[in-house]
Amino acid sequence: MHADIVVLPGDGIGPEVAAAAITVLQAVAKHHGHTFTFAEHDIGGIAIDRHGVPLPEATTVACQNADAVLLGAVGGPKWSDPNAKVRPEQGLLAIRRALGLFANLRPVRPHNAALDASPIKPHLLTGVDIMVVRELTGGIYFGDKTRTAEAASDLCSYSVAEIERVMRSAFVLAKARRGKVTSVDKANVLETSRLWRDVATRIGREEFPEVELEHQLVDSMAMHLLAKPREYDVIVTENMFGDILTDEASMLAGSLGLLPSASLGQEGKVGIYEPIHGSAPDIAGKGIANPYATILSAAMLLRHSLGLEEEAQCIERAVSAALDARAFTADLAGPGKALSTQQATAAVLEQLDTHCFVAELRD
Ligand code: IPM
Ligand code: MG
Repeated sequence: MHADIVVLPGDGIGPEVAAAAITVLQAVAKHHGHTFTFAEHDIGGIAIDRHGVPLPEATTVACQNADAVLLGAVGGPKWSDPNAKVRPEQGLLAIRRALGLFANLRPVRPHNAALDASPIKPHLLTGVDIMVVRELTGGIYFGDKTRTAEAASDLCSYSVAEIERVMRSAFVLAKARRGKVTSVDKANVLETSRLWRDVATRIGREEFPEVELEHQLVDSMAMHLLAKPREYDVIVTENMFGDILTDEASMLAGSLGLLPSASLGQEGKVGIYEPIHGSAPDIAGKGIANPYATILSAAMLLRHSLGLEEEAQCIERAVSAALDARAFTADLAGPGKALSTQQATAAVLEQLDTHCFVAELRD
């Protein structure tokens, strides 16, 4: 097949990890006889520098016309003045909103070879397989903000329709997995959470009676996620809780550098695929960033936007095999034993030859 992929490398380590994922996508395309084009556009700090805005119109239009979007990361100290009028992060939020990407899928599956890198005891981690569905275009991230010399406010609001659609995404995923949804809120304090809980209960009862639904308060969820992560299948939550819980969940996998994500809108609309980590300005430009989260995001791109399930699995198997072979970047390896971004990418490409070949034989 042919696919036009827009790449938004962004800032910090974004360009390095995006380049790694492109290499892997090109290799997969070659193996399976697809042609992918990659068109780069600016977002975030680099867009502020070049165009004066974090999301140029041309970037939005290119994304709207693409088959899928691969994104690196945005942000950095250069643009972090708290009083700055424009911030790189606004570009990311604006493109999520512009494309209507309300469901952010963040899978968490600790890999056996990386268990030692997690601060959690290994016996708690085996068999953990969680899909966090984070609502991405509502809540406190997008509510009105006010600021005076004496006070500031951020409005958190959700509509029934916004909750319904992300709930349905979570239930559909759970049906194809282990059949359990954990809906996370703060219904003992927040009105938006009480609405969230009501809608979750109704959608569960009326549309997905075969799926088990439990409710958790976000504070106790933060604890249970570390104490008994195996109990969770699909976790669905609002924008900011999902942001926080997924950084926490990344510690189950051993490194923030291992977690991919897919941001999806309505069926048939373009999706954005990005690592959940940020721009890591402290290691940017050094060639040592972990490329696996972005490579695994590319696998999600193949699966969700292009419908190439076999190809997606071949990337996932290759990353898994590279981890088995202890092809670790600095975040996972001890000092001295760490691979560069390029070496880790090469390790995946090498495994890809084996794993895509196997797939071809099976076809
Ligand atoms: C994420 C990031 C973003 C978010 C930032 C960079 C705006 O932390 O994707 O998790 O908060 O959504
Ligand atoms: Mg985050």
